[in-house]
Amino acid sequence: MTETSTRVTPGVNTPDKLTQLRNLRARSMLGGGPEKIDQQHAKGRLTARERLELLLDKGTFRETDAFVGGRNGSVTLGDGVVTGWGTIDGRLIYVFSQDFTVLGGSLGEAHAGKIVKLQEMAMKNGAPIIGICDSGGARIQEGIMSLVGYSDIFLRNVMASGVVPQLSAIMGPCAGGAVYSPAITDFIFMVKNTSYMFLTGPDVVKTVTHEDVTFEELGGAMIHNTTSGVAHFAAESEADCLFLLRMLLSYLPSNNMEDPPYVKSKDDSLRMDESLDTLIPDTPNKPYDIIEVIRKVVDDGQFMEVQEHFAGNIVIGFARMGGHSVGIVANQPQVLAGVLDINSSEKAARFVRFCDSFNIPIITFEDVPGFLPGVGQEHGGIIRAGAKLLYAYCEATVPKLCVITRKAYGGAYCVMSPRATRGDLVLAWPSAELAVMGPDGAVNVVYRRELNSSDDPVAKKAEMVAKYREEVSNPFVAASRGYVDDIIEPRETRPRLINALEMLRNKRDSNPPRKHGNIPL
Ligand code: HXC
Repeated sequence: MTETSTRVTPGVNTPDKLTQLRNLRARSMLGGGPEKIDQQHAKGRLTARERLELLLDKGTFRETDAFVGGRNGSVTLGDGVVTGWGTIDGRLIYVFSQDFTVLGGSLGEAHAGKIVKLQEMAMKNGAPIIGICDSGGARIQEGIMSLVGYSDIFLRNVMASGVVPQLSAIMGPCAGGAVYSPAITDFIFMVKNTSYMFLTGPDVVKTVTHEDVTFEELGGAMIHNTTSGVAHFAAESEADCLFLLRMLLSYLPSNNMEDPPYVKSKDDSLRMDESLDTLIPDTPNKPYDIIEVIRKVVDDGQFMEVQEHFAGNIVIGFARMGGHSVGIVANQPQVLAGVLDINSSEKAARFVRFCDSFNIPIITFEDVPGFLPGVGQEHGGIIRAGAKLLYAYCEATVPKLCVITRKAYGGAYCVMSPRATRGDLVLAWPSAELAVMGPDGAVNVVYRRELNSSDDPVAKKAEMVAKYREEVSNPFVAASRGYVDDIIEPRETRPRLINALEMLRNKRDSNPPRKHGNIPL
């Protein structure tokens, strides 16, 4: 197609011109053409436009730059990306959808320019931007222009971070810059079996490292959801992925100056749940499922877990309390006894920072025996990783509520939103234990001499452990000094948290003026 053939001749709007316009639009709708569209469908994938139809409210998509062509004149109208705005649940959303049928969705100068224009509109008008990514990365034929195009996009990704939510849906084989831009955004969704993320594909890997690896093994949805932690959601199908995107947006404000949307619930704010009273097992080392606790407390039992397949020893996600969005961070006693390690610290730290950026209060459910000991963790940088979570909680100025269900030991206590790091309210269940370490370890250190000289060390130890629980780790000790604001019956957790969120509705807090802090990355 030559450039001139894509123009409508100037003058009055005669029927001819309108026909010409319609023809051009029809051509731009076809992307790489029917054959390429068939190939896309044969791979179990939808086209860029079909995806937009599923994502947005019916009939709301308004396209921008449909007539932009590739800079060298060789590329189809639209240059391999469909851009525009529409609504989701009636709220404005900017969206770009890359078209793999046009040179593998690769990004050239014009393609990049369309995305940049949209990013700037999203920031100026305060609405989320969604990228549906299906791209082989920088367009090889356009050389430096494609690299500049990516740099332009990365810059806007960074400028938009914390200003408007940025979500990425990976829907095909994405390489190079096509994964770096999503990596800067807030959440990455992938589709099982049909979407991939890698810097360089299996062929390059084979050439450089001689490793034989499939697309799936190198960068499939489950690899990035379980092992690398790069992705946040693994959907069963493209339709499922787009549904999840819509659901996530329902918890988020459109920008950092807004509060998240209020969704009225029939779930009574004063509802108590007696089953919580007996949920904690009778022995401290027995696990229980913290997600069960979360579901019993939040509106309608609805909890949208984020990164559910990664670092399961901490649970993060969104829910509503009394109709208002909350971010939940919870130690999971069912996985590694709920310890904090490198992956769980990083997972939670990023989530806390997201919630703080977008005015979403954070509720922490704490049952943590400490940091995971071991050479691997120490050498892998648990000190730095743990410091990230500590930093994130300290820095956050949104309402921060904490419920200590059981263990709050050692450095992990200091990390998980205590009063001293500007936590607004700390509630403890009677089963809570707050101390430098668990009773066994503590007794071995402090009462070593008494234990060694005892005729019956086992009985002596049991006696010492009971004494330690009574005198040191008992939640009433912490409550008597105000470090715990109240000790509550577990059944009361929901009404107490909703009441606290109301009490904090007008909370104003800030950090000292500075260019920015220096989180230990
Ligand atoms: C131009 C590209 C392209 C690219 C794919 N195509 N990638 N054209 N530039 N980067 C074209 C192919 O030539 C082909 O055209 C069509 O898209 C479909 O590609 P296939 O290879 O047939 O598809 P598939 O087998 O599904 O493999 C998809 C793929 C593979 C894994 C993405 O194409 C691939 O490895 N591409 C190169 C990826 C890459 O190295 N990109 C540059 C990264 S560097 P025809 O006409 O045959 O249909 C980068 C720098 C940015 O992005 C800066 C980062 C910080």
